[in-house]
Amino acid sequence: MKNILSILVLKDYIKVLDQNLLPFKVKYVTLKSLSDVILAIKNMTVRGAPLIGIVAAFGLAFAWRQVETAPVNRGRFPLKQAAKQLKASRPTAVNLAWAVDRLVQASKEKCNLWEEAKAIMEEEKAACDRMGRKGAKLIKKGSRILTICNTGSLATYGDGTALGVIREAYRQGKIKVVYASETRPRLQGARLTVWELKQSGIPHFLITDNMAAHLMQRGEIDCVIAGADRIAANGDSANKIGTYSLAVLAKYHNIPFYIVAPASTIDKRIKSGKDIPIEERSSDEVLMIKGQLITLKGTKVKNPAFDVTPRNLITAIITD
Ligand code: MRU
Repeated sequence: MKNILSILVLKDYIKVLDQNLLPFKVKYVTLKSLSDVILAIKNMTVRGAPLIGIVAAFGLAFAWRQVETAPVNRGRFPLKQAAKQLKASRPTAVNLAWAVDRLVQASKEKCNLWEEAKAIMEEEKAACDRMGRKGAKLIKKGSRILTICNTGSLATYGDGTALGVIREAYRQGKIKVVYASETRPRLQGARLTVWELKQSGIPHFLITDNMAAHLMQRGEIDCVIAGADRIAANGDSANKIGTYSLAVLAKYHNIPFYIVAPASTIDKRIKSGKDIPIEERSSDEVLMIKGQLITLKGTKVKNPAFDVTPRNLITAIITD
């Protein structure tokens, strides 16, 4: 079960898999500058909390290297500005701010920021392995697992968070089937998770987001496993829109609900979920599918990209 890599690091640039084209086209795009990175994060060429943290780190490393190779700019390095722009590119996943802050600190210690970005990448990979091993212990043999969004190799640099646990549990022969929730409006479940599950040979069903309650009522789901974009100090966890409703449903049906996330997703500065910033994305994501309007032009739309699951609905948070 070899996973396709979400990011390739070359000598002085990176290539990322264009996730907007999946599952129909596998194409890497080259990122060579801070502005390339900001655009790729904003338009979701790359997505998933740990991966945007890694890519943001390379974004800052690009800005830093530009100065290293252009001595004329030395001493006037707008690192602060680059950090600010990167942090504003997507607000909810704290991994991004965490990685940027770490590189800013490394620059103060005169470290090589390119190497620091690579170190973050390797650490996140090892974190996936640890989460997979720990999480798999909680999975019972023959489990039918529901997951949302995409939390696998495409969202990380490794096996994934929630999908990493599923992969490891599958290797241990514990998984009967995975239900992938399609994850409207951007369809990360349908486009990305199904693609990964297929590549890993894990049996799966794709369901629309409104089918979960019915399946739980019929006793067809044994547990729910999701990732997180930011976990507050009290354990409240922000993740893809729709995660909260799955947690409520799981509680009602007495089904374990697990969150899987690395330490870089925990934001100890934020006391509870109500302080987590929730990204609002373009109304076009709801109004259209593949560029085709699905409702009346001009319809007003709400499009929060994430929601917060209160800690009392979470059976366990699996970290590295
Ligand atoms: O908007 P996205 O696709 O970046 O959202 C991703 C998620 O919500 C994931 O569940 C989360 O980042 C954890 S991924 C390991």
